[in-house]
Amino acid sequence: MENNVRPESMARINTPALADAFIEEQLAALKAQIGDKKVLLALSGGVDSSVVAALLIKAVGRQLVCVHVNHGLMRKGESEQVIKVFGEELNANLIYVDATDRFLDLLAGVAEPEKKRKIIGGEFIKVFDEEASKLEGISFLAQGTIYPDILESNGVKAHHNVGGLPKGMQFELVEPLKFLFKDEVRVVGKALGLPDNMVYRQPFPGPGLGVRCLGAITRDRLHALREADAILREEFDRCGLAGKVWQYFISVPDFKSVGVKDGKRYEGWPAIIRAVNTVDAMSATIEEIPYAVLHTVTDRITKEVPGINRVLYDLTPKPVGTIEWE
Ligand code: XMP
Repeated sequence: MENNVRPESMARINTPALADAFIEEQLAALKAQIGDKKVLLALSGGVDSSVVAALLIKAVGRQLVCVHVNHGLMRKGESEQVIKVFGEELNANLIYVDATDRFLDLLAGVAEPEKKRKIIGGEFIKVFDEEASKLEGISFLAQGTIYPDILESNGVKAHHNVGGLPKGMQFELVEPLKFLFKDEVRVVGKALGLPDNMVYRQPFPGPGLGVRCLGAITRDRLHALREADAILREEFDRCGLAGKVWQYFISVPDFKSVGVKDGKRYEGWPAIIRAVNTVDAMSATIEEIPYAVLHTVTDRITKEVPGINRVLYDLTPKPVGTIEWE
């Protein structure tokens, strides 16, 4: 049986030197395991899959095939960053699939949160399987499994974006991070030279902006959400809150209110700010964002984002409010 228990002798990786030692050890192990065969990886651009990709590129170069599925629900610039960092800078063997239309067409008119999640998860696996079955000679499937995934779910990563195994194909798993905790993955990612905004990325749900574009998703409201979220992130970066707040984002509900712009009636959606601190996401407190920052964010979002005419600040801790609205 596969060993899924972190060795007691394993030191906590919390310095660059320890990260370098871990990397050297993994590179040797990966080369021995993979040899001259090919490995497939679903690369979302999140911390875990990015660190796995960077390690494997170092170990086996273009024998690693990364598939990045853009489900159209990424935050602004995220797919572009995956292409830039992995496709261009690290010269990865990267397959980029823009499946935006497939996802948004399937989601059209679907308002029920659980149904939306199921559609996104199911379609993700379908797109990934389609891409995988076009490839020949793949022997291994790499996964960004980390130790909490094993502790919490018997080794099966409870996350849709890992992708399912293509029917009829048998892959051996490659899971170089499976004994690491999240903070250790970040130290390793940093030592591998990945950019800070990838290594220190805040958690982002697999269904992406799909759970923040509340109710039935429309392209115009999704666009407004993505732009408003980018402004919030920019302003948090600027005032130093980005490194301090655990998770922050915008949700946009599917109703409009009356407003006024340029002397005319202007109906628009509200953008709702959520900014929370937590240790384990089981409970969360509210970040006390300085009013000056709130004013700047409100001013920019209402001026720059078409369709938004109000900005609200969700003051509800968890419990009673969950972190996401859906
Ligand atoms: P809630 O909304 O339950 O969220 O308080 C707790 C944390 O989990 C994240 N989240 C998800 N992560 N897939 C994920 O990988 C999901 O479907 C999902 N839904 C919520 C949420 O962003 C928060 O950090």
